[in-house]
This record gives sequence, C-alpha cells and structure tokens, in this order.
Amino acid sequence: MAEKRAQHAARFDGRELRRALGQYATGVTVVTARAPDGRSVGMTANSFTSVSMDPPLVLWCPGKNSPSLPDFTDASHFAVHVLAADQHHLSRQFATPADDKFRGTPTTPGIAGTPLLDGAVARFQCRTVQRLDAGDHIIFLGEVEQYDADGGAPLVFHSGYYHVATKHPDL
Ligand SMILES: Cc1cc2nc3c(=O)[nH]c(=O)nc-3n(C[C@H](O)[C@H](O)[C@H](O)COP(=O)(O)O)c2cc1C
Repeated sequence: MAEKRAQHAARFDGRELRRALGQYATGVTVVTARAPDGRSVGMTANSFTSVSMDPPLVLWCPGKNSPSLPDFTDASHFAVHVLAADQHHLSRQFATPADDKFRGTPTTPGIAGTPLLDGAVARFQCRTVQRLDAGDHIIFLGEVEQYDADGGAPLVFHSGYYHVATKHPDL
C-alpha cells in the first residue's frame, strides 16, 4: 500500500497537477455545520457538485487534514452557501484556520441548528447521507432538505484567482 502511494506521488508533479486541475473554473462555497457541542464550523470549498435531482443529492469534499473535519463528521447536517461575487472576503475568512471563523459574521439557525450566512446567491441545507473515503479527502454526500436561491452575480474561482462571471460576448 505504501509502495502504491509512493508510485502515485512520483507519477505527477503535485504543483503541475494542481495547476492543470485549476483550469476547471468553479463557483466558491462556504460549507457550515453545527458541531454536537453547539459550536459553528465552516470552511471554504470549491469541490461542491450537484449529483442527483431525484433524490436531490449534492457532494463536497473536505480534506482529511482539515481541522474542521471531525466536526463535519459528527454533525447530522451541513449547509452549502454559493458565494456572491462581493463575498470574496468570506471565502478568505473561511479558508483561514481560526478558533472562531464566524466572529463578526451574523448567522441564523437552519435545520439542526446549522448556521446560515446571509447574502449567498443560493443555499442548500443538507442531511449527510453518506461519507466516502477518497484518497486524501472525504466525499460528503448530502440530501437537500431545503434550499433558497436569491440569485445574483456568483463568485468564480479559476487558476487560483477570484473572478466574476460575464455572459459570453459571442452568444
Ligand atoms: C477557493 C477555495 C476553495 C477551497 N476548496 C476546498 C475544498 O473543496 N476542500 C478542502 O478540503 N479545502 C478547500 N479549501 C481550503 C480550505 O478552505 C482551508 O484549508 C480551510 O482552512 C479548511 O478549514 P479548517 O481549517 O477549519 O479545517 C479551499 C480554499 C479556497 C480558497
């Protein structure tokens, strides 16, 4: 097993692979949960993906080394906030390890007390239905129990930089 891992590590240059994967433009989300002791946890994630319409399933992938992972694992629910273009500060805030990432950020309680942030272009409140081991990450599969979508300009992440989306000029 250790040998196999070493082979994988040697096959690609990690920085180059990351750069290639970064060519895939994504939105940016902040995923939140309420830990069993009542603390709010949250992290920035662009691994969010819609999976199924019936039943309504989505996924996202926290890293195994993320300090917040045990709290997400212990929580029954998570909420995905698709960030608006003007919420780049929240992306940075929730991508920076801190004791209380929510300081100065108002929230309202959602399903199972999951902290909800304002101003997102869409929010999905989900019950975790499956967790899959996936290399150095865990895939969290959630069933959407509630959602709202105010719409507006989304925040875009591409090649390591934040962007805004504009309609294609040719179309
Ligand atoms: C745009 C962006 C997208 C990110 N996407 C992910 C992701 O999908 N999964 C992940 O584990 N970390 C991702 N990160 C990094 C985490 O947000 C960061 O490691 C954070 O500190 C994790 O939270 P924690 O320290 O509270 O565990 C992303 C960071 C940025 C800026």
